Amino acid sequence: MVSLPLMFVYLLSLILLINIISLPQTSLALSSCNGACATLDDCDGQLICINRKCNDDPDVGTHICSKPSPPPPMTPGGCNPSGTLHCNNISYPTYTCSPPVTSSTIAKLEISEFNKGGDGGGAAECDEQYHENTERIVGLSTGWYNGGKMCGRMIIITAGNGRSVTAKVVDECDSSVGCDAEHAGQPPCDNNVVVASEAVWKALQLDVQGEGVQVTWSLHSNCSEAINCGGIGGLSYPFWGVNRASYCGLPGFEVACLDNVPVINMSNINYRILKTNSSRAPPSVTVARQDYWKTICPPSFVNTSINSSMFHYTSSGFTNLTLYYGCNTSTSTTTTTPELTSTSQVCSRRNSGNITVSYVTPSPRVDPVASGACKNQVIVPVSTTAAAALEANRTAIQDAVDGGFELELQIHTDQCNTCMQSGGKCAVNTVGE
Ligand SMILES: *[C@@H]1O[C@H](CO)[C@@H](O)[C@H](O)[C@H]1NC(C)=O
Ligand SMILES: *[C@@H]1O[C@H](CO)[C@@H](O)[C@H](O)[C@H]1NC(C)=O
Ligand SMILES: *[C@@H]1O[C@H](CO)[C@@H](O)[C@H](O)[C@H]1NC(C)=O
Ligand SMILES: *[C@@H]1O[C@H](CO)[C@@H](O)[C@H](O)[C@H]1NC(C)=O
Ligand SMILES: *[C@@H]1O[C@H](CO)[C@@H](O)[C@H](O)[C@H]1NC(C)=O
Ligand SMILES: *[C@@H]1O[C@H](CO)[C@@H](O)[C@H](O)[C@H]1NC(C)=O
Ligand SMILES: *[C@@H]1O[C@H](CO)[C@@H](O)[C@H](O)[C@H]1NC(C)=O
Ligand SMILES: *[C@@H]1O[C@H](CO)[C@@H](O)[C@H](O)[C@H]1NC(C)=O
Ligand SMILES: *[C@@H]1O[C@H](CO)[C@@H](O)[C@H](O)[C@H]1NC(C)=O
Ligand SMILES: *[C@@H]1O[C@H](CO)[C@@H](O)[C@H](O)[C@H]1NC(C)=O
Repeated sequence: MVSLPLMFVYLLSLILLINIISLPQTSLALSSCNGACATLDDCDGQLICINRKCNDDPDVGTHICSKPSPPPPMTPGGCNPSGTLHCNNISYPTYTCSPPVTSSTIAKLEISEFNKGGDGGGAAECDEQYHENTERIVGLSTGWYNGGKMCGRMIIITAGNGRSVTAKVVDECDSSVGCDAEHAGQPPCDNNVVVASEAVWKALQLDVQGEGVQVTWSLHSNCSEAINCGGIGGLSYPFWGVNRASYCGLPGFEVACLDNVPVINMSNINYRILKTNSSRAPPSVTVARQDYWKTICPPSFVNTSINSSMFHYTSSGFTNLTLYYGCNTSTSTTTTTPELTSTSQVCSRRNSGNITVSYVTPSPRVDPVASGACKNQVIVPVSTTAAAALEANRTAIQDAVDGGFELELQIHTDQCNTCMQSGGKCAVNTVGE
């Protein structure tokens, strides 16, 4: 005899079981590998329904399900497939996005023909034109193509062999559609593909048979953009670096972006670029020594040395501030060099303990280093106004040093014209015109 409450539980579980079994039948979507199914029609592609799960057809011998189903392909930046397409019974993910573009975006290089009657399908997406395969032209996956925003832009492709080529974007390699007549039955493009003409492959010295070669690409700078670092505007010709290619500037004027500050390295010292003035002629930059930034105790003692083929000091705007280190406090330095001002600051040196810092502007009559009163001296230019304020005790030594000094750019109109001809933009389009 089955008791009444037990009978109730039994009935309830039976109802639940029937529900579970009948649930997939109400679902209209096709199931892929290991998905729930009730009839043969519920399964994707070649899969058949075995034990209410979609699986490989033993008679056909496919091996889609023999391995644990792979996780859906996912690319960095959360670019997930937008759907699935089937070409010849093989399913392909579709994408409307591509991995994020960086300064060195990893891509698969494929070959394509861009001429009429070539294997590339229709005319190029950007201009609805056919192109010669001798042109250095490429198509990009849908996400990178970005609805045509990349059309006409130049990209630099770099291969594993170290060779680089500049190529123009003319086409899309569609990652969202395919497997139809319009795409010659071709599956959709992966979302990380650069399809390139034979000319690009040749320039990279790659074997055109080597489909799917890993390369990196980056946007080619067109020189009209200023350096994008911190809030300092106007850093264009002759400066280069960061987002400006080397051909957009002159040798020596390379700028790096350190902690959101543009810096230029000259004679082994980094100078922070504080501001630019392109309305004066020649244009100028105001720089401060990076090793003296917020400290008058640099790691090593190096004089300021400006490369005169790049910059000139402005004729009126600067004064030499000389900092003296390790002055003998027991001798009366003030008797030999009365102009010297001692600071309250000491610099701790690994080998010589704490050393004193004194300074003078512009130059003392007697050199305290030569007289043996001080160990080292370093010349750091400051603006004339800062030097005057320092002498009048109106400013602190650190503020005077951090204010920097102005340098005129040594650039000539002929160099600028060359730059303009190559599609660049000079910082000095007012000079000599
Ligand atoms: C696709 O699958 C169907 C049924 O499984 C089969 O009849 C057909 O031959 C397959 N086509 C190709 C190109 O493999
Ligand atoms: C150069 O870059 C600027 C700014 O990004 C852009 O507006 C312009 O269209 C580009 N020119 C070419 C020829 O790519
Ligand atoms: C000065 O700059 C020019 C141009 O960058 C460079 O050729 C030269 O070697 C530099 N001179 C010194 C002393 O660094
Ligand atoms: C400046 O450049 C030189 C040569 O490229 C390098 O050796 C030096 O470390 C750089 N100096 C700084 C402060 O980055
Ligand atoms: C730039 O230089 C011009 C000419 O010397 C000067 O009049 C102007 O005030 C300067 N601008 C800045 C922002 O320093
Ligand atoms: C800096 O220059 C001065 C004068 O030219 C020289 O006496 C001094 O030794 C130099 N200092 C260093 C650290 O090179
Ligand atoms: C500043 O010091 C440098 C040496 O570093 C020297 O060549 C220059 O003549 C000095 N300028 C002035 C105005 O004292
Ligand atoms: C400082 O000067 C005094 C007097 O000239 C001398 O006796 C002493 O040795 C000096 N100290 C150092 C650390 O050079
Ligand atoms: C060096 O100076 C620091 C403070 O600036 C002080 O704490 C330390 O005791 C000093 N060391 C010596 C050896 O005088
Ligand atoms: C600046 O201060 C120093 C000491 O703090 C003093 O000896 C000097 O006279 C002052 N100079 C001026 C112009 O006030």
